[in-house]
Amino acid sequence: MSVGRAPLGPSPSRRRYLMCEPRYFEVRYAINPWMNADVPVDLNRARDQWRTLVRAYRDHGHTVETVAPVEGLPDMVFAANAALVLDGQVLGSSFHAPERRPESEAYGTWFKETGYHVHPAESICEGEGDLVPVGRFVLAGTGFRTHRAAHREVQELFGRPVISLDLVDPRFYHLDTALFFLGGGTGEGNIAYYPAAFSPGSREVLRTLYPRAVIATEEDALAFGLNSVSDGRNVFVAPQAHGLIDQLAGRGYVPVPVDLSEFRKAGGGIKCCTQEIR
Ligand code: ARG
Repeated sequence: MSVGRAPLGPSPSRRRYLMCEPRYFEVRYAINPWMNADVPVDLNRARDQWRTLVRAYRDHGHTVETVAPVEGLPDMVFAANAALVLDGQVLGSSFHAPERRPESEAYGTWFKETGYHVHPAESICEGEGDLVPVGRFVLAGTGFRTHRAAHREVQELFGRPVISLDLVDPRFYHLDTALFFLGGGTGEGNIAYYPAAFSPGSREVLRTLYPRAVIATEEDALAFGLNSVSDGRNVFVAPQAHGLIDQLAGRGYVPVPVDLSEFRKAGGGIKCCTQEIR
């Protein structure tokens, strides 16, 4: 006699994340449309929100390591931008904004001390902000920050096919503000994205590659809902992204709402604060 079994939902895997405590976080220059140096950051609130995210990751079985924050580098908290790490290889970032360039050294030191060799990017490249590994491929954004030439560097270094996507809306200046990888153990997995953030051709590419993608609304995207982190099952997501949360739950994912509203003042969210070490 066979026993009936409920179908299993998407399965999670344990991840290793690198994060940077927001000790010196503030908005004192404006390099994206979200930033306004006249709107003060509540540092205590930012710290609480950040700690809540760390706790949420650890409670779900993930490892969180931290890099020491550097005074005078307020955006260093956005660890995702510092590198792309795949198969133990590190492509170090070369930041677009002069204000952020010293972060490369601070993160480079952490990687070296942790035993990694860092390949510095020759072209402007903002790490996981614009580079999203999806199964065997890498989706790569360009238009505001990372240059297309860096996409070729990624392909050469990692030997994985890189799919270039053009971002067209300055509010979604990094690929990770408009798209995230949900995971998927078999095949190429699935993504969630906001189509209007992409050029018509790139939209068509995404539609072809991911016919079953979760399509987010502008409201979800403005709430930084696409700046989410998925472990394959649990999705750490902005609580304000209501429509997206409902869709994820409907597909069998487990939304884990974590509010990083204070970081939105700098144009960042959950994924921006999280570098995955693969
Ligand atoms: N203020 C930072 C910048 O404009 C925010 C970076 C957000 N990070 C991200 N992965 N989208 O560079």
